[in-house]
Amino acid sequence: MTDWVSTGHLPTAAVVQQLVDEAHRRFTPVEEGELASYIPALATASPSHFGLCVAATGGQLFEAGEAAQPFSIQSLSKPFLFALICQAIGEDEAREKLGVNSTGLPFNSVLAVERSGEGLSNPMVNAGAIAATSLAPGETAEAKWAFIQEGFSRFAGRPLAIDRAVYASELATNRRNAGIASLLSEQERIWFDPVAATNLYTRQCALSVTARDLSLMAATLANGGRQPCTGEQVIGAVICQHVLAVMVTAGLYETSGDWLYATGLPGKSGVSGGMITVAPGKGGLATFSPPLDEAGNSVRGQLTARFLSERLGLNLFASRSEGKA
Ligand code: DON
Repeated sequence: MTDWVSTGHLPTAAVVQQLVDEAHRRFTPVEEGELASYIPALATASPSHFGLCVAATGGQLFEAGEAAQPFSIQSLSKPFLFALICQAIGEDEAREKLGVNSTGLPFNSVLAVERSGEGLSNPMVNAGAIAATSLAPGETAEAKWAFIQEGFSRFAGRPLAIDRAVYASELATNRRNAGIASLLSEQERIWFDPVAATNLYTRQCALSVTARDLSLMAATLANGGRQPCTGEQVIGAVICQHVLAVMVTAGLYETSGDWLYATGLPGKSGVSGGMITVAPGKGGLATFSPPLDEAGNSVRGQLTARFLSERLGLNLFASRSEGKA
């Protein structure tokens, strides 16, 4: 096994800040997209909020707009949960139990679980994430919660707390996820009480973060699992590679192909309007802007990621001819 390998570096700090400011200016006027409303508390978000933050693997932060505005992490929790579970049970067992292939279907699809035959999906969609939550170490829901909350806080480099209003709102309207967990249980693809696992998953989705937090969490995945500011090795470097692979495959659900085509990078979206993009070896980008497209991905977030991937030279598939015959 070779050491973790970095792939280049960001431009100078002045250039990164200038492009972050430019992205904010350029995409502020965009008004497309709708707020998520199936979780009632999310429908009260302000469509005009727009913040972004790039965290370099060296720990420098480059912000614009409302980078300190708190919002619930929602599906952006999924890659970090998967990372923590891989670390706890091993990446091979995690893959066998959860699956890692794209479903090609929306994030809350029941059909995806049915169609695979064995209850497998991947940890970026609700079914795989609820199953992953059930695998958190601990005999009780509280022990599992402590594992999850502490792990997420290590990624962020500060203690994270839940947004109680969002948690209560989703708990009260969570029938689809309860159905998914029940189906997983029938297929023996969940390893804790399905109701308790769904509640834990919902609680984790309500963790309150900012674009600044998320940029550092993403930068930890870009940095072989080491948190750039605290210096803590949160997960192993090899685990990071597997997490990023699943983000590429399924991070934006049925539009993951369009995303990869546009950015050439692993990414993840959440229905509260957050997005993260990981540039291995270089850094993490996080955006917050609540209006979403039909697949549940932030409209301004996608535009920003594409713009910064191109202008900062982040696309993983970019290469330059060496000029040799
Ligand atoms: O389970 C749900 O439906 C939400 N807690 C999270 C979904 C989500 O963020 C999907 N993202 N684009």
